[in-house]
Amino acid sequence: MTVTATPSPVGRGRFITFEGGEGSGKSTQLRILASRLNAAGIRAITTREPGGSPGAEVIRYLVLSGVGKLFGSDMEALLFAAARDDHVHVVIEPALEQGTWVLCDRFTDSTRVYQGAAGDVDPRLLAALERVTIGRLAPDVTFILDVPVETGLARAAARRGAGEVDRFEQEGAEFHAKLRAAYRAIAEKEPARCVLVDATAEVDRTAGTIWRALGERLPEILTTRESRPA
Ligand code: TYD
Repeated sequence: MTVTATPSPVGRGRFITFEGGEGSGKSTQLRILASRLNAAGIRAITTREPGGSPGAEVIRYLVLSGVGKLFGSDMEALLFAAARDDHVHVVIEPALEQGTWVLCDRFTDSTRVYQGAAGDVDPRLLAALERVTIGRLAPDVTFILDVPVETGLARAAARRGAGEVDRFEQEGAEFHAKLRAAYRAIAEKEPARCVLVDATAEVDRTAGTIWRALGERLPEILTTRESRPA
């Protein structure tokens, strides 16, 4: 299904994505930003990929368990695309159309980086899948949370505890180093959309950096009620 997004007319919600390698703290920062926006009188929902809609959550289970890998990397990319298609059409687009802001934990940059730069899927296939799944929908702002590979993997291991290592956490240090380099390259190539955030700082400080950067790009957050966090 193809989406033809209107070019952000007044009233349409904003679409903000969070990206980064393992243990970069995306989910925490996404939750903090959502509550700040809500406190500022902006209706914002949080969601995630892969997943975010009932259909996409089924595919999430497949890919993160490693089953998708058995079909080969191109077909695994197709599974991520099928999940995204459902998520965009069932959750993201309807919310944006109603004026709700959508904060999404991972989106197309994850595919470009994990399946493309660090994986071995042809970028032309990934570009074609993007056209089919998201059409002209693009994030208004993308925060790329940057941490050294060792820091991120240590944080992910601490968070996991005795739980199982997922499909991508299993990859070696070289894979994770490629992810980091690819994210930094995207941030450099698309400075209007992307903000590279040093996520080694403590949580509140990183949250402050994110709030200020968002205010520079979307000044409407600064003019709404209670919009200045203490
Ligand atoms: P998740 O448990 O959500 O981890 P994280 O906290 O790191 O976001 O797992 C999602 C995994 O799926 C993560 O390792 C990145 C990977 N992924 C892709 O490979 N391609 C994609 O398009 C997306 C959305 C995620």
